[in-house]
Amino acid sequence: MEKVKISLGIIVSLFLMILFNTQGICKVTGVCSNCHTMHNSQNNQPMVYGNSTIPIKALLRKNCLECHTGKNTGDNTIPYVLDTSEPGYTFGDASGRETLAGGNFYWVYKGNYRDGHNVAGLDPDDSLSSPPGFDSAYRNISWSGQQVTCAGTYGCHGDPSKTDPIEAVLGAHHKNELCNATLGNCDGSTVAKSYRFLLGVKGTEDPDWELHPDTLHHNGYYAVDNPTGGTENSGSINWLCGQCHGNFHSDNGGASPWLRHPTDYDMNNVKNKEYGNYPNIALFSGKLGVSATYDYFADVPVGNTQGVVLSQVLQNSGDAIVLCVSCHRAHGSPYWKSLRWDYKGWPGNGELNGCNACHTTKY
Ligand code: HEC
Ligand code: HEC
Ligand code: HEC
Ligand code: HEC
Ligand code: HEC
Repeated sequence: MEKVKISLGIIVSLFLMILFNTQGICKVTGVCSNCHTMHNSQNNQPMVYGNSTIPIKALLRKNCLECHTGKNTGDNTIPYVLDTSEPGYTFGDASGRETLAGGNFYWVYKGNYRDGHNVAGLDPDDSLSSPPGFDSAYRNISWSGQQVTCAGTYGCHGDPSKTDPIEAVLGAHHKNELCNATLGNCDGSTVAKSYRFLLGVKGTEDPDWELHPDTLHHNGYYAVDNPTGGTENSGSINWLCGQCHGNFHSDNGGASPWLRHPTDYDMNNVKNKEYGNYPNIALFSGKLGVSATYDYFADVPVGNTQGVVLSQVLQNSGDAIVLCVSCHRAHGSPYWKSLRWDYKGWPGNGELNGCNACHTTKY
């Protein structure tokens, strides 16, 4: 008996060691000088990217966008959100995919401003400088002439009380946790302990940022069943989008017939309607590992009240919640309004329409 207990103990601690080792992978590691420069000078030459003589805060050699530019191959340890050559992306097919869960800024960078967020540093020319649906009750700021930034007051990541993007995330890269709602290591209390450095947001982070997702490998989005829920931090990613697009989050009428499309709304409430056939096997069987009704379809994701990774949904109340990112990519996509699929081009383009993953009778 005693022996069994000891070996169980060893197994458990080995398991924990493996867990904590994998957690280590997501923190920045490596030679300091790859990322930092003490004086921005070596042999009297600048060390900042592009030979700029202007030093960057936190003694960095690159800014957010410069470090996060590249092609996602599956071997990269930096999540790349801007690719300067067109990344592979087909809705419903992850095989040749080179974009991550948030999509990619490539299409905006190429001048298609309406295909995503035009963050400062990408292109200064954008006629839409204030966020559609802005409600200052969420974030009390003024948008006159301001472009959206990666982080800080005018951005999505980091602490919004800091205007400077680097100050907004300072300390997070070296303390980053691979958020796992089952382990409970990310309560949203700090930037490092928030889902993808989105301060206050909870959930589970897929280790490869959903480069090649299937029903088992994907992010776990934390969400609540409170479609009109407003400005107080619920920990959901929809609340985060509401920081700048508040009316689209809470001003929706609260029930069918809706005034604006619901988010933070649990499809279990309407399981007896067409939504009970998510993700629509007739159309999406064989896509990203989907084979049966209720299988999680990572290209039309839903959230849950635990923020965990579920391979099947509509099993328990609170496990199939509509998200802003059920339809949109947060950074950008090849399509109008940063949608995950070609909503505007359908059905002419022959591509499937993601609306039909939930609206299973509307085609
Ligand atoms: C892969 C890139 C990378 C490497 C390698 C790296 N850092 Fe950093 N470090 C960053 C970034 C990015 C920031 C600023 C953003 C942040 O703090 O989240 C930062 C911030 C810091 C800060 C200020 C914030 C804090 O966490 O205290 C210190 C100090 C620091 N680094 C020291 C080091 C040292 C010492 C090394 C080598 C042992 C090192 N870094 C290696 C990327 C890196
Ligand atoms: C010197 C290079 C460097 C700079 C500058 C840098 N990053 Fe990172 N970033 C990294 C690396 C390396 C990782 C992967 C390791 C990690 O997750 O900490 C990373 C990871 C991230 C992640 C994913 C975290 C997660 O939980 O998966 C986010 C979000 C992020 N960075 C945002 C930013 C923002 C916003 C800025 C600018 C304020 C920034 N980064 C500046 C190198 C950098
Ligand atoms: C810090 C403020 C901020 C946050 C947070 C934010 N956005 Fe935006 N968003 C903007 C601004 C500013 C614009 C208009 C300029 C642009 O497109 O870059 C915009 C535009 C958009 C557009 C239209 C794109 C276009 O160019 O026509 C979509 C779609 C969008 N946001 C979705 C989202 C989603 C989804 C989230 C949450 C994941 C989100 N936004 C979070 C500021 C924000
Ligand atoms: C993740 C699932 C999901 C996706 C994807 C989705 N919807 Fe919905 N939609 C819902 C749910 C749930 C409702 C609320 C139904 C209810 O209350 O009866 C809804 C409501 C609606 C309504 C209002 C119905 C009413 O009774 O007032 C319309 C119209 C609509 N959706 C259109 C769309 C379109 C167009 C798309 C694609 C751009 C789309 N939806 C994508 C889940 C989804
Ligand atoms: C059901 C799918 C769906 C969901 C969920 C959804 N959107 Fe949209 N969104 C769209 C479509 C489709 C458009 C294109 C315009 C239209 O048809 O209204 C759009 C347009 C937008 C725009 C551009 C508006 C403009 O003036 O051009 C923004 C910003 C936006 N969405 C943000 C959000 C945010 C924030 C959320 C969550 C609170 C959200 N969306 C949830 C489908 C969706």
